[in-house]
Amino acid sequence: MSLSLSPPASTPAAGGAPSAAPLVEIEGLQKLFPLTRTATEYFQGRSRRSIHAVDGVSMTIRAGETVGLIGESGSGKTTLGWLIARLHSPSAGTFRFEGRDVGNLEGTPLRHWRRNVQVVFQDPVGSLDPRLKVWQIVGEPLRAQEQMDRQVGQSGGRLSREELRARVRDALPTVGLPPDCLDQYPHEFSGGGRQRLSLARAFSVHPKLVVLDEPTSALDVAVQAQILNRLVELQRERQVAYLLITHNVAAVRYVADRVVVMYLGQIVEVGSVHGVLEKPIHPYTKALLAAVPVADAGRRRTRFRIGGDVPSLVDPPPGCRFAPRCPFVVDRCRVEDPPLREIPGAAGQLVACHRAEDVRDIPPASLLSTAGGPPPAGTPTAPVPPA
Ligand SMILES: Nc1ncnc2c1ncn2[C@@H]1O[C@H](COP(=O)(O)OP(=O)(O)OP(=O)(O)O)[C@@H](O)[C@H]1O
Ligand code: SF4
Ligand SMILES: [Mg+2]
Repeated sequence: MSLSLSPPASTPAAGGAPSAAPLVEIEGLQKLFPLTRTATEYFQGRSRRSIHAVDGVSMTIRAGETVGLIGESGSGKTTLGWLIARLHSPSAGTFRFEGRDVGNLEGTPLRHWRRNVQVVFQDPVGSLDPRLKVWQIVGEPLRAQEQMDRQVGQSGGRLSREELRARVRDALPTVGLPPDCLDQYPHEFSGGGRQRLSLARAFSVHPKLVVLDEPTSALDVAVQAQILNRLVELQRERQVAYLLITHNVAAVRYVADRVVVMYLGQIVEVGSVHGVLEKPIHPYTKALLAAVPVADAGRRRTRFRIGGDVPSLVDPPPGCRFAPRCPFVVDRCRVEDPPLREIPGAAGQLVACHRAEDVRDIPPASLLSTAGGPPPAGTPTAPVPPA
């Protein structure tokens, strides 16, 4: 059965146009980072091993929607974001953008295409050149795209310095920066101001998708809210889509339409924000959400109960990658990859777990225990009814 990870296409209004093809369609996308062979491996003639950072990911992003991407550190979120921005080339799989295959673009066609997808990085200090002024930082993608347009014969003239400054001056208020800061340097801004500069730079070329890689994690809470609100406003004004990569579940709940959960290079669950965050089905999603700190004195001393070893991403074995940590594991899980599949009655939620139907109603909180103490009453200590 072929499954689409996009939300159900909305019913077109009577006489209206049918909904557009997805902005991003990826299928079986893989990114391997080859490791250098040790001398022993070399002399034994062993083949090169690889880190499977993203391993067979299929998903879609529709125009104007926000997809939240969550998962533990090292699960491959940034690598997937970079693949979608084509900052990495895929090792395998297909990547279509507005129906066009862009997975194999190289050289000028790739650089020309790049305006469509911009990236905002976590660290506004490291991602902004401290030697450049605001107009140069924000104007840099504009200048690069204008050069690309000339190379492919889509534009005649070269932007003068004054024209570029004028375009940047116009762009700054859209992210809440004063238009008269053109000649300031990044260090003259607060953390929130620097992140606004990153947004201005990303939005200057009117992208169709922005990959937001932990855009607020370096900011204090009040500034986080301001930046998220600005992102929501910009999306409404420009119909831009977001891939929001974050550890901040509250931010996903606030801005996202759908959520994708990754574990060790693979998608384990995807669905609406309400479905995945309120009624998670995959044991990993339950554990991940149960581990989110809450402002509740009664749960302050809870800890992540699911133990076990995290398997290596270097040539991982077959079977479910969560098996060594899963309290519901059965023999089948260790040998057979669970496909991402629709779960009956779960409103379009897709889950990669052989036992999704058995475990779906187990509350996430039951996967936590008080530090050092016994698990709370009702915690399943043995696998729930045999699959
Ligand atoms: N350029 C690279 N070369 C080799 N390995 C890499 C490279 N980039 C990422 N990896 C590895 O790929 C895996 C996934 O990394 P990635 O940064 O995508 O995870 P992440 O989910 O974004 O983590 P975090 O939440 O900490 O940012 C990790 O094991 C990482 O060490
Ligand atoms: S029950 Fe099996 S397939 Fe499902 S998460 Fe646990 S180990 Fe993986
Ligand atoms: Mg990351």
